[in-house]
Order: sequence, then structure tokens, then C-alpha cells
Amino acid sequence: MKIAIHHNNWPSSFSTYWIQYCVENGIDYKIVDCFSTDIVSDLHDCNALMWHHSHDTFMDAIAAKKILFAIEHSGKIVFPSFNTDWHFDDKVAQKYLLEAVNASVVPSSIFYDKKKALEWANTTTFPKVFKLKGGSGSKNVQLVGSKSKAETLINKAFGGGFSQFNRANHFNYYLLRYKKTKQVSHIVKAFGGLIVKSKYGKMQHNEKGYVYFQEFIENDGFDLRIIIVGDKGFGLKRLVRENDFRASGSGNIIYDVTQIDENCVKMAFEINKKIKSQSIAFDFVIDKVTNVPYIVEISYAYAADAYKACEGYWTDDLKFHPGSFNPQGWMVEDIIKQIKISG
Ligand SMILES: Nc1ncnc2c1ncn2[C@@H]1O[C@H](COP(=O)(O)OP(=O)(O)O)[C@@H](O)[C@H]1O
Ligand SMILES: [Mg+2]
Repeated sequence: MKIAIHHNNWPSSFSTYWIQYCVENGIDYKIVDCFSTDIVSDLHDCNALMWHHSHDTFMDAIAAKKILFAIEHSGKIVFPSFNTDWHFDDKVAQKYLLEAVNASVVPSSIFYDKKKALEWANTTTFPKVFKLKGGSGSKNVQLVGSKSKAETLINKAFGGGFSQFNRANHFNYYLLRYKKTKQVSHIVKAFGGLIVKSKYGKMQHNEKGYVYFQEFIENDGFDLRIIIVGDKGFGLKRLVRENDFRASGSGNIIYDVTQIDENCVKMAFEINKKIKSQSIAFDFVIDKVTNVPYIVEISYAYAADAYKACEGYWTDDLKFHPGSFNPQGWMVEDIIKQIKISG
């Protein structure tokens, strides 16, 4: 049995931990380059392929899903699998999926037609939350307080469209990262982005031809991120930025497990029984009046290092196991289990 791993050099990549786990546990693996034109034949001696592909890297964004799903057709086990990955970095796809499995998803409206979108804006109430289908760290998420703001966004969505790379958002995001960590690399990225568009920004076409709004769920200033890997789960709480409604990317993280609503953990396990994802992060916001948790986003991938400070994990019987744990090791173990089952 041999596992192929595509390794990324960026910090917090799952692949660093997968390799470490294989080395420490004597699991046979080989490093492959998924961008090689011979990737399919390169896997001839492997039972599985693992690739932590990113929405932020242009090459990954255009190639990864095609390669992984093609390999899955050959009968090999892949991470992320089709069920785990097809909706990744696509909040509109996630809307359909979460509605289809009857999950508690935030109510939303999607339009592929400008006239219908403008009619809707004329009759609906505000505020709403506007989102591009892709993006992370709240970069492509904004509050829409009025009909006129919604109309401006709709006109843009069916006109020139939105650049995936927004200079102001990029600057604010890295400035906040710098303030939190004092790492000079963040300040370099913040100012660098004002001068040079990221490689991704240059390559990616503008987002247009659709417009997506979610209901604004009034909450107490945080979201809960619950991650399920196989039959285990863990999570954290993220506070919103100052004078803002957005938690993702704020860096204000609370690891205290008593602050995590177990109801969300239970929901995450239950919903994933239907979605059948190998790894899935649910972002919940909780309505401050009704206390109902609503999912605003799902994602198979995340920065591995951010979860090292979690106080423990739950098994799917909702028993909490305090202490450190290794979710990327669980991923490798799950792949081995799947290889054995597939015979
Ligand atoms: N419908 C909503 N109602 C209230 N707050 C929301 C809503 N959607 C998102 N948020 C807030 O905005 C943040 C970013 O939204 P999210 O959809 O998770 O985007 P990203 O992919 O950038 O993380 C969330 O962490 C949450 O705090
Ligand atoms: Mg999010």
C-alpha cells in the first residue's frame, strides 16, 4: 500500500503533517507533482492521492478538481474526494447542497438575470449580506444596508464584474494580520498588494453573471467554526473585527471549549452524514433572538496551524476528549481505511 502526496511549500499546508505522519508511522508514501502532464501514470504504484489544494493559488484553482476527480474514477482513493470537494470555494454551490440536504443554512437569494435581481432589490428588506462565490478571510463579503447599494452591486455583477483581488480588502486583511502577529512579512504583503496585483488577481477573470445575497443574521459578534474529519470533530470561536460584522480572518480566536455550542457540533456531525465529506469546516452564525445556528459557509480546507490550540475533540457520540490531537493524521488513517475497504 502506498499513498501519493502532492506537497505544498506554503505554511500550514496539510501535506507537511501528512508526510510527518507517514514517516512517524512507517506508512509508505511518495511525493508527486500533480501538475506533471504524466500525473496519471505517475500514480501507477499508488493506491491513493492526497492533495491540499488551495483556492488562493491560481494553478490549484484551475486544475485540482479535474485531476482529483479523474483519479477517483480510476478506482484509487483521493483526498479530497468528489463529495468533499465539488463545492469547495463556491458559496453558491454550497447553498444548493445545504438546502438539498435540509441543513440549517442561512436563507439566501441567487440571480443569474439582472432584471430579476433588480426587481428583488426593489421589494426586499435590508440589510443583506453580499458575497462573491469564492474567497476567504471575509475578503469578498460585505454588508448591504440599502436598496441603492444592492442596485450598485447588481449593476456591477452584470456589467464589468468584480475583481477577485480587491486592493483595499487585501491591504486591510494583511494589516490586521500584522497587528496581531507583528510578522514583517504581513506588512510587506499589505503594501506590496497596493503596488502589484497578486499573481492570482492577474490571472483570474472577473466574477460576473450572477449575484448572491444572504439574509443578515443578527448575532452576538462571533461565528463558530466546527470541523469534522471522519468520526471526530473540533472547533473554535471567532470574534468579529472592531466595528464590523465579519469574524472570518479577524484573528480574534477563542479556544475555550465551554464557549462552543455543542448543538453546532451535533449538527455538523449530522449534516456531514449526508454530505459524506472526508473533512469539512462549517461556519455557523447564531441568531441572537431565536438562538438558531445558521451555516454561512463550508470548506474542506483550512490553515492547519490555527487549530493546534484547540483544547480537545469530540467523537460522534458527542463525548469530548481533552488534549492535543492530529487531524491530518486522522485524514491519512481514513485514507488507509478506505483503501482497505476498496480491496
Ligand atoms: N449571513 C450572514 N449573517 C451574518 N454574518 C455573516 C453572514 N455571512 C457571513 N457572516 C460573517 O462574515 C464572515 C465571513 O463570511 P463567510 O461566508 O464565512 O466568508 P469567508 O469565506 O470569507 O470566510 C463570517 O465569519 C461571519 O462572521
Ligand atoms: Mg468563512
